[in-house]
Amino acid sequence: MAERSASLTINAEAPIELPVYPASVGPAVLDVGALTRQGYFTYDPGFVSTASCDSAITYIDGDEGILLHRGYPIEQLAEQSGHLELCYLLLHDRLPRPAELRDFVDSIKRHAAVDEQALNFYTGFRRDAHPMSIMCAVTAGLAALYHDAFDADDEGYRVDTAHRLIAKMPTLAAMTYRHSRGEPFVPPREDLDYAENFLHMMFAPAGGDYEVNPVLARAFDRIFLLHADHEQNASTSTVRMAGSTGANPFACIAAGIAALWGPAHGGANEAVLNMLAEIGSPDNIPKYIKRAKDRDDPFRVMGFGHRVYKNYDPRAKVMQDTCREVLAELGVDHDPTLQMAQELERIALEDEFFVERRLYPNVDFYSGIILKAIGIPVEMFTVIFVTGRTPGWIAHWKEMVSAPYKIGRPRQLYTGEDRRDYVPIDRR
Ligand code: CMC
Repeated sequence: MAERSASLTINAEAPIELPVYPASVGPAVLDVGALTRQGYFTYDPGFVSTASCDSAITYIDGDEGILLHRGYPIEQLAEQSGHLELCYLLLHDRLPRPAELRDFVDSIKRHAAVDEQALNFYTGFRRDAHPMSIMCAVTAGLAALYHDAFDADDEGYRVDTAHRLIAKMPTLAAMTYRHSRGEPFVPPREDLDYAENFLHMMFAPAGGDYEVNPVLARAFDRIFLLHADHEQNASTSTVRMAGSTGANPFACIAAGIAALWGPAHGGANEAVLNMLAEIGSPDNIPKYIKRAKDRDDPFRVMGFGHRVYKNYDPRAKVMQDTCREVLAELGVDHDPTLQMAQELERIALEDEFFVERRLYPNVDFYSGIILKAIGIPVEMFTVIFVTGRTPGWIAHWKEMVSAPYKIGRPRQLYTGEDRRDYVPIDRR
């Protein structure tokens, strides 16, 4: 696999040869395994330059603002494909043929309902529990319902589990929302497509009719599609790490949900809306931009910046178009929050601090505004992200367990005490 090698000399020691593996596109990697045998670890807090695995699912070029799933650009997928077609693509290595897509969609519809017993999970939660804590718990709870069949070595099990998770996540998300409102759950319907069904389970009156708005359904399909995968981000790496121990995949996805919750990751869409509310008026934007630049002030412009993208996030562009479509459909194009977001974006993109650090809006900047306009409560935003990201998580779990893998076990730069003897309590 290695076509080249790098030679590392530490002080006057003999050089250490490190194989260099080429990527199909993008940076090659150095295999640093030989360093451990020589008594060194590599040091890379935040894994800024560490490739933790091989993967053929998603490629990002952060400098150019490129995102490819199995080679297909996100803009083309957003324009010409749909969320479930992308789910198939992530799970397999090619676009589905018509019959394959039909079978996949049918399977997702068949698996959308959750077991009666899972309904009881919800009764233990207060109505005001954060929806992400409920999502973590009920997803881990599915491991209890499906543990008997667990066999990560069986491709049939891997595919079934992926279908179950993709199918059930919108149902669990809608149940979480309805629980918070004290409303009865609305079961999934097989005659609706994935996004329509989600809107139906969220907003239909119990036992009554609900007409799904096609513009909003299309917007949700895009939101799910744009969030579907993003290579080795914090939550996906968490899913892989948990999966590398041989844990039940539903529990691994629950671990990913926990990692996604934070405001530096999936919680950013919620944080964007909270930030816009705090700013309050466009007149206050310069004050907040000043705060964002002050190193002694923890304030950051939420929805800006990305570990990988040092250019406009390609998902943010599509999200911006969807945002305009939704606001026009709902007749709220002059929404003050949107106007403030646009003004904040304009000022930040012209500011030297943001320009120098290549800080651009990310996917979360506009998704929160769309969700707010549709009437989704702010604390549900990250749950929508969970629903969108589940196919990516399970595709990565499936890819990992389908080939030989090692338990994820990083090392450390130890900075504590050297060996010392215990001092009995009466002599301290
Ligand atoms: N506002 C103001 N300054 C920022 C921001 C921001 N949003 N993001 C980064 N910076 C500054 C940071 O202070 C640092 O400045 P300096 O060079 O003076 O020390 C410089 O830019 C580099 O930042 P960093 O923290 O080293 O970058 P990182 O790659 O570790 O962090 C990030 C990436 C996404 C955590 C960060 O940009 C951030 O906190 N953004 C706001 C939260 C957010 O929108 N997160 C969603 C990410 S996209 C959705 C997802 O994939 O989950």
